[in-house]
Amino acid sequence: MSDPQATHLSDYRPPAYRVICTELTFDLDPAATRVKASLHLERHPQREAGLPLELDGEGLDLKVIALDGQPLEADEYAVSDTGLIVHRVPERFRLETEVEIAPQANTALEGLYRSGSMYCTQCEAEGFRRITFYPDRPDVMATFTTTVIGDAEREPVLLSNGNPVERGSLPNGRHFATWEDPHPKPSYLFALVAGDLEKVEDAFTTASGREVTLQIWVEEENLGKTDHAMASLKRAMSWDEQAYGREYDLDLFMIVAVNDFNMGAMENKGLNIFNSAAVLTHVHTATDAAFQRVESIVAHEYFHNWSGNRVTCRDWFQLSLKEGFTVYRDQCFSADTNSPAVKRIEDVSVFRTSQFAEDAGPTAHPVRPDHYIEIGNFYTLTIYEKGAEVVRMLANLVGKEAFRRGSDLYFDRFDGRAVTIEDFVGCMAEASGLDLTQFMRWYSQAGTPEIDAFGEYDYARGEYRLMLRQRTPATPGQPDKQPLHIPIRLGLVGTKSGRDLPLTLNGETLGSDAVIDLREAEQEFLFTDVSEAPVPSLLRGFSAPVKLRFPYGREDLAFLLANDSDGFNRWDAGQRLAMLALDDLIAAHRNGVEKVMDTRVVEAFRGLLSAEIDDRAVLAEMLTLPSEAYIAEQQPLVDVDAIHAARTFVKQGLATALRDDFLRVYRENHCDESYAPTPEQIAGRSLKNVALSYLVAIEDEEGIAQAMEQFEADHNMTDVRHALTLLTHSSRDDLSEPALRAFGEKWAHDTLVMDQWFSIQVTRPQPDVLDRVKFLMEHPAFSLKNPNKVRALIGTFAGQNRVNFHRIDGEGYRLLADVVIELNRLNPEIAARLITPLTRWARFDETRQELMKAELERIRAEKLSPNVYEVVEKALA
Ligand code: ARG
Ligand code: ZN
Repeated sequence: MSDPQATHLSDYRPPAYRVICTELTFDLDPAATRVKASLHLERHPQREAGLPLELDGEGLDLKVIALDGQPLEADEYAVSDTGLIVHRVPERFRLETEVEIAPQANTALEGLYRSGSMYCTQCEAEGFRRITFYPDRPDVMATFTTTVIGDAEREPVLLSNGNPVERGSLPNGRHFATWEDPHPKPSYLFALVAGDLEKVEDAFTTASGREVTLQIWVEEENLGKTDHAMASLKRAMSWDEQAYGREYDLDLFMIVAVNDFNMGAMENKGLNIFNSAAVLTHVHTATDAAFQRVESIVAHEYFHNWSGNRVTCRDWFQLSLKEGFTVYRDQCFSADTNSPAVKRIEDVSVFRTSQFAEDAGPTAHPVRPDHYIEIGNFYTLTIYEKGAEVVRMLANLVGKEAFRRGSDLYFDRFDGRAVTIEDFVGCMAEASGLDLTQFMRWYSQAGTPEIDAFGEYDYARGEYRLMLRQRTPATPGQPDKQPLHIPIRLGLVGTKSGRDLPLTLNGETLGSDAVIDLREAEQEFLFTDVSEAPVPSLLRGFSAPVKLRFPYGREDLAFLLANDSDGFNRWDAGQRLAMLALDDLIAAHRNGVEKVMDTRVVEAFRGLLSAEIDDRAVLAEMLTLPSEAYIAEQQPLVDVDAIHAARTFVKQGLATALRDDFLRVYRENHCDESYAPTPEQIAGRSLKNVALSYLVAIEDEEGIAQAMEQFEADHNMTDVRHALTLLTHSSRDDLSEPALRAFGEKWAHDTLVMDQWFSIQVTRPQPDVLDRVKFLMEHPAFSLKNPNKVRALIGTFAGQNRVNFHRIDGEGYRLLADVVIELNRLNPEIAARLITPLTRWARFDETRQELMKAELERIRAEKLSPNVYEVVEKALA
């Protein structure tokens, strides 16, 4: 077999033929489902006449093919591994095919597959070609009529996109349902679900008075877990009306929960399919974080109805057009419904840890890539999260009103079309009158820009000079980078007053919190009328996805932590202060020098713990030390053991020095009210649980007792899981082992809770954890075929248990490679994602580098799926 080939953006051409309407009939059977397709096609006006018809198709057994009612002769068409060609077709015609597929053999979970006893689909990006022969590309948009035939007993519920139009019974205990979707859509938005499901129903009236029925379909035992998703859906529907003027456009909106799903969820028109982990919640089975995740994913998929479905992508290089914009939309929604500062802190923490790492590694790619081998590998933090940061910068650059005018223009002008990122940015430029030419580089240039900032205060003149230098490091295939247009929000905080000083730049007054535009490689900004020496607060709210360095002293950071008017930057000052201390300790550990606790960090934390608390959720974030992964991201060479030792030392040092404060905070924030995922309650739980983590870190008797009590009180999953995690990660096996056993037995029937049970155990820092990972892989609740299980056990171990995954004997790497090799056959998309930690070998010492590369080589020697092939080739390039 020849190596998989890349697809290039520069090769884009419209399809030779487009589909006007698509009629499908599914006769369901686990081993032999028959799919009949009747496609009304016509030549694309921009393409020449007489071209052959080329349809995509993979793993399809073609049974029937006819053109305008005439069966085709064998020499009139050709079938290959990747599709079907009909050599001669007229300008307008109808093509009928019938194929056979085997959903039960589909372990890749793309196309039509089985999850438990149900049938479901996942078609984005290129799954529809595993269902029938079709021009499986987003710029072909057709109306769909779908008939699903199933067993009346086993599949009483038969769903597809749009509106139900007909149902009835058939001979042999079979029945059917027909669905019509009037909105033209690309094949990636097609969906079908069949099974023994129950529904929860609600209703929503749109601003213009359309009555929409809302349904969430689940397996019977999950009927009690849909309230939060339903409430979130309704909030999202009104938010989109208010914030973007967008209404829902069908009479029915359905969500289905499935247990086997590669990603979080999918925005199929009128029939969103969700990973059950991304939709089901219950006070006793889901944590606060899970409740918030469900809210944001339900909103995300709903928002796609406009940003993705009504206006879609011309080709998959434009993926961020819908994903970056929709993530930005769901982030704003969550910020509006919860605490905006905390939402930003959480998003930026993940971003700076994981997206920065991706952008600095061998799979780095621009927000709009220009080539790929397997598009399934590009559902990345860069496309989603960096794409969202780019939209956020745009929104801040053009301003709130122009952004809304620009998005209105975009939705109106391109409704029903498949478009490009230029079309989107063009609307923003048109609505604002701004020149966004340089800004477009954000879409084509990979890598994280680094900004070096220096400042000088001139007492005599009352001037503050800020010098900024930007540079984007080389990334694979992009050795040279151009300067970007970077919006930097900033304030100058007066060291005497502790207040933001008024800003005057080039004679213009800007208020006390302003955005300056960095466009050159080096640029100077001279602020005048600066009445006292300031500490600059730079990149407020993380106004651009960059790394910004400034030679802050520890006093400066302590000052900002106490005084900055920007909540995000106050938090960031604390993180920077902790990083300075951690850097020293990492060096001390490496040099075998005795570690000494930085008293300034202790005093800063003491200040936080004793100050008047205004936002408990932000305070909880401020009291949280940078994660090991984030610390690693800041080091030139990652020393996992030194990082772990340094962080543990700081945590224990703080806990010892401030033990009584933590205990007081824990007690003060205890709450007996019945559980609700409200911002207030969540804030209280976060704060109390951070405090508890410090107490357990020093195995304080009182802290351990509180953790046990919290576990046993069984008030809600957030508290139970947190307590169980702390105990499991402590040395108190006498307490954690019985607790883990009790928890595992109690929840053996609940697959989503068992995922958590796996994750808690495989993040233990104890050196014997690898054996436990292997042992748990044999547990009856574990299955390599279920992506949630793989993520909970293997993904969590490799991604979050840094000391043990990076064991110097290479056993952690070997275990991961073994799993990747097996999953390469079963589920290539999940296999390719799982490799990520191994691709980061260049960041480690030589011994580990060699071990990691050896495992990548071992994977490379296998017969690989395109997904795994692409990642491994890049990692070893
Ligand atoms: N469009 C979906 C979402 O962002 C994700 C689909 C991912 N599909 C895939 N095969 N990777 O909501
Ligand atoms: Zn999405």
